[in-house]
Amino acid sequence: MKIIGTNLEDIAVAGQALRTGCLVAIPTETVYGLAGNARDVHTLARIFAVKKRPIFDPLIIHIGDPFDVDVVADSNVPFAKEIVEAFWPGPITLILPRRSWVPDLATSGLDTVAVRCPSHDIARAIIRKAGVPVAAPSANPFGYLSPTRANHVARQLGDKIDFIVDGGSCLLGVESTILDLSIEQPVILRPGGLSVERIRSVIPDIRVLDRRTSNPKAPGQLPSHYAPSRPLYLLPTGSLAQKPPYPEDKSHAAITFGSVTTQALLRTNWYKTVVDLSPDANTTEAAAALFNTLHSLDTDEYNAIWTERLPEEGLGLAVNDRLYKASIKLV
Ligand code: TXA
Ligand code: MG
Repeated sequence: MKIIGTNLEDIAVAGQALRTGCLVAIPTETVYGLAGNARDVHTLARIFAVKKRPIFDPLIIHIGDPFDVDVVADSNVPFAKEIVEAFWPGPITLILPRRSWVPDLATSGLDTVAVRCPSHDIARAIIRKAGVPVAAPSANPFGYLSPTRANHVARQLGDKIDFIVDGGSCLLGVESTILDLSIEQPVILRPGGLSVERIRSVIPDIRVLDRRTSNPKAPGQLPSHYAPSRPLYLLPTGSLAQKPPYPEDKSHAAITFGSVTTQALLRTNWYKTVVDLSPDANTTEAAAALFNTLHSLDTDEYNAIWTERLPEEGLGLAVNDRLYKASIKLV
């Protein structure tokens, strides 16, 4: 594996590598993606193998420009044009009827396909250079924390892939919002980097799929996902500053949201470390810090991580979704 940068020459190398069947980890505004030529089934098979991802969990196809959507999918469905116009390039993935060339391996045999045009300039430049649509799941082993920095990818998958394009930290830090427009009543399958409030400005009565659903349509909805190697406990909002429900052994870490809770916890000696996702209690800032914080606490120094729910507004919904799926179920 080779780590490369983001100058014009690097972009050309990454694009050429993608076109010729290599696996290239690329930065996006959400998380790092493990990219491969979507037209090449051998490359797609390698993506599943490298991630140890079950083949019933379909991939997102990334395009360099919004107008390329119809190469991959049929965007002639209600709301698609409006959503693309309002939010692409950006952190929202659309589920649309597929084009027939899209390999079954990318869609898990569904008659729909997930498409996204990222807003990250380097990502788009690489996809344009590749000259093909690019399949890219998050660049992590299946079920583990998503990567928001190049070194997260190097640590988790470095020996199994061809290139990592180091574009620094991902701006948003949570995956794209997935919006299913292939059915009569559109629904958000996964809350993510574009808030529900913003989507409501185009589809006023948009629903969010209940995450406790027993029959997930997006396997990112599976109960355990995005998880660190040590137990993560998620408590209701406001309960972290109460006495913790475990015997004190000073080997636990706490993740807080807002300086009120942080200050309260720092006055106790319950936790070995307290990390505040956003001292100003800003949900966008918290989303950007989430996976990096979980990666940094997922070491032998700690036996468990405790945290509490954020308010369900803005990107708080996406953060709570990731924490819920990563956690030992208490709430
Ligand atoms: O922000 C993101 O979306 C990142 C970056 C790299 O773009 N990608 C990402 O991919 O999060 P991944 O593979 O980790 O998550 C894609 C999700 C999966 O939960 C998958 O089940 C769902 O998209 N998905 C893909 N195709 C689908 C389809 N046709 N219908 C329903 N869900 C689909
Ligand atoms: Mg993922």
